[in-house]
This record gives sequence, C-alpha cells and structure tokens, in this order.
Amino acid sequence: MEKKIINRAILAIFTVIAILSFTTTHAADPSPLQDFCVGVDDPFSAVFVNGKFCKNPKKVTVNDFLYKGFDIASEIDNPQGVEATLVNVDKFPGLNTLGAFAVIKGTLYAGFVTTEYKLYDTILNEGDIIVFPQGLIHFQLNLCNSTALAIAAFGSQNPGRINVVDGLFGTTPKILDKVLTKAYQVNKTIIEELRSQFSNNYDHVSIDSARSLLLETLSQKSKDLEA
Ligand SMILES: *[C@@H]1O[C@H](CO)[C@@H](O)[C@H](O)[C@H]1NC(C)=O
Ligand SMILES: *[C@@H]1O[C@H](CO)[C@@H](O)[C@H](O)[C@H]1NC(C)=O
Repeated sequence: MEKKIINRAILAIFTVIAILSFTTTHAADPSPLQDFCVGVDDPFSAVFVNGKFCKNPKKVTVNDFLYKGFDIASEIDNPQGVEATLVNVDKFPGLNTLGAFAVIKGTLYAGFVTTEYKLYDTILNEGDIIVFPQGLIHFQLNLCNSTALAIAAFGSQNPGRINVVDGLFGTTPKILDKVLTKAYQVNKTIIEELRSQFSNNYDHVSIDSARSLLLETLSQKSKDLEA
C-alpha cells in the first residue's frame, strides 16, 4: 500500500516535470522546414506557412535577404537624443527567424547556396545587412584593396561555425581518401595537395593508412555478418 502511494507520488512528480519541460521547450522559434521562409502577408503569392506566409521560393531574390539603410543615421526628434531603428520581418522579410550579418566598414562580396544548388550573391556596402539562412553554405570575400569589417549575430546561445574547406581537408583524423576522391572525382595526389593547404597534421600518413585498413576490415566484417 505504502509502495503504491510512493509510486503515485513519483508519477505525480514526473508528470509535473514533464509538463514543466513541455512548456519550456517551446520558447524558441520553430526550426525551419525549408531552406528559408521569406515572410509575406499575401497568401496568394505564397506557398508554405510558418508564422508568416513564406514567399514562393521561385520568386525569392537575393534582395529579400538584404537590408540597406544603416549607413545613414536616423532623424532624432526627442529630448533623449536617441533613435533606435527597428528592423523586423515586416521591413526585412528574409529575416524571418534568422540571424544577420552586418557590414560596418568596407565592401564585401557575399552569397549562399540553397539545397537546390541555387546561388544567391550580392555586394554588401557599409550599413548593409544580409541574412544567411540557417545551415546553408555561405561565404564573404573582400574584393577590394581595403579593410572590411562586419558583425555576425545569430539567434542561438552557441552559434557554431564550420569552415567548409577545413571541414573537408583539415580534419583530425583525416577523412578517408576514398570519400574525397569519389566526391571530387580527382585522384589521391590532388586530394593530398589540397589537404596540405589546410591540415596542421599532414605528416600522420601512416595513421591514416591504418585507419583506412581498419575501416575497410570493419565494413567487410559487417557484410560477412549480413550474409
Ligand atoms: C593595395 O594597397 C596597398 C596599401 O595602400 C598598396 O601598397 C598596394 O599597392 C595596393 N594594391 C593594389 C593591387 O592596388
Ligand atoms: C592526378 O591527376 C592530375 C590532374 O589530372 C595528373 O596531372 C596527375 O598525373 C595524376 N596523378 C596520378 C598519380 O594519377
């Protein structure tokens, strides 16, 4: 009898914890279901729904991800002498749930690639802001012979960053040669040349061969088990 009561108490506590955790896990914006959602108010020019209607991806241009205007200070007409310019999804439709990249000084060429391999690219000047949709490969390059400065801000406690080339050619341990020669359709010599540009531990060739052999043996073993 006593045990039953204790069990009930435990169940009640778990229920309370479950309810608490249910309410706290919904504090963030929902994860995107597509590469991007350029917010529009008119459902007739849109396809998906995610807070705002999302603009038809076929009609989306790089300008939807671009906000210009922070190169000019706002008119100030209040006794505090302060003016804040709010840029939200209504002024900047591509911002919808994303972080932003702002150019403070100089000029940068920037772009990103969607999961359909479409490139959106543009030139960013001082005061311009672009959004890079979450998880999509993107780049910035200073094409001018002068310093550029930019600030990136993301809606996360722990915004991670992976440099794509380092992620392929500078990993520890190395990604197996076979993966890279297949993916890039070039020979091992070229892969090693690329690795030598990005890897800090290029001399661990023997370790790589041992790993390669081990992985091949394991693959073979799994296949034998299946048969
Ligand atoms: C770039 O700027 C530096 C410093 O002003 C100058 O020495 C150099 O010649 C410039 N290079 C080109 C390609 O304009
Ligand atoms: C690898 O490919 C390059 C470029 O096609 C070629 O010049 C080189 O001889 C090749 N190396 C080997 C070992 O096949």
